[in-house]
Amino acid sequence: MKNITVIGAGTMGNGIAHTFAQKNFNVKLVDISSEALEKALKTIEKNLERMVKKEKITESQKSNTLANISTYTDLESGVDGADLVVEAATENKDLKLKIFQQLDQICDLNTILASNTSSISITEIASVTNRAEKIIGMHFMNPVPLMKLVEVIRGKQTSDQVTNSIMSLSKSLNKIPVEVNDAPGFVANRILMPMINEAIYTLNEKISSVEGIDTVMILGMSHPMGPLHLADFIGLDVCLSILEVMHDGFGGEKYTPCPLLIDMVKNGHLGIKSGAGFYDYSEGVRNKKVSAQFV
Ligand SMILES: NC(=O)c1ccc[n+]([C@@H]2O[C@H](COP(=O)([O-])OP(=O)(O)OC[C@H]3O[C@@H](n4cnc5c(N)ncnc54)[C@H](O)[C@@H]3O)[C@@H](O)[C@H]2O)c1
Repeated sequence: MKNITVIGAGTMGNGIAHTFAQKNFNVKLVDISSEALEKALKTIEKNLERMVKKEKITESQKSNTLANISTYTDLESGVDGADLVVEAATENKDLKLKIFQQLDQICDLNTILASNTSSISITEIASVTNRAEKIIGMHFMNPVPLMKLVEVIRGKQTSDQVTNSIMSLSKSLNKIPVEVNDAPGFVANRILMPMINEAIYTLNEKISSVEGIDTVMILGMSHPMGPLHLADFIGLDVCLSILEVMHDGFGGEKYTPCPLLIDMVKNGHLGIKSGAGFYDYSEGVRNKKVSAQFV
């Protein structure tokens, strides 16, 4: 595989494009928004610059990586010649089904179609295509250039050959892939999201403060980051969508999103990407302070 198309240039799409481009793949990055594409290129450049400063890569590796990425708003030109498409558009089932239906029609018959979805069934995504054996989940973690794990999700009909090639491809990116079966939330989010949701309920019930809850989990459980800070990092809208998919899929109380999470998303408090969530990032991501509503 040499030619990779990434659909969606948001938080995850820019990181996935960066990671493939740094390993010398030709990357076509596609988004419906040209502003999102411009922002993604700026983010990739800034992140590469930081790696140069830390002497993790050279100046010429930085320019080669940037030269390996081209951007498109037109899907058909964006997938032309792709060996693999990694879809990282907004976490919305109808949107993803529509994208995969289109991809199935316009991509070469041999192209593997992967989704970076956090929770949506790979089997259901495959069902809208005529190539169910070539549909797979390739769930990168945020921030993609730094995080080692790739959850590789097999739909009911994903072939061994496709699974093996995505496992080896992930290794060639210096990642550690873990193969899992298809179920709402897979492994990572099935375990993580109930914890984040419970942290939000704990805050909503005034059992402790934002910093109190995060500190308990950092110092008490050796988590590198508290659950409320992590939710801001993931995006509160993304957390809500994942919980809704698990709630629909499994039913019961366990995955019911906390009303506070629903309100925050309604009010546009999405975490780092909107400038505020449980913490306020108006003075930069590194200078976070607790958001005014929780002080
Ligand atoms: N944020 C995380 O920490 C995280 C981690 C792992 C996986 N994911 C998953 O990755 C995917 C993307 O999440 P994100 O956080 O990057 O979202 P985001 O909101 O930051 O970005 C989504 C991008 O998709 C674009 N988009 C929407 N419809 C499109 C279409 N039809 N064609 C092309 N582009 C389109 C939007 O313009 C936007 O730029 C979701 O499925 C999410 O569940 C997110």
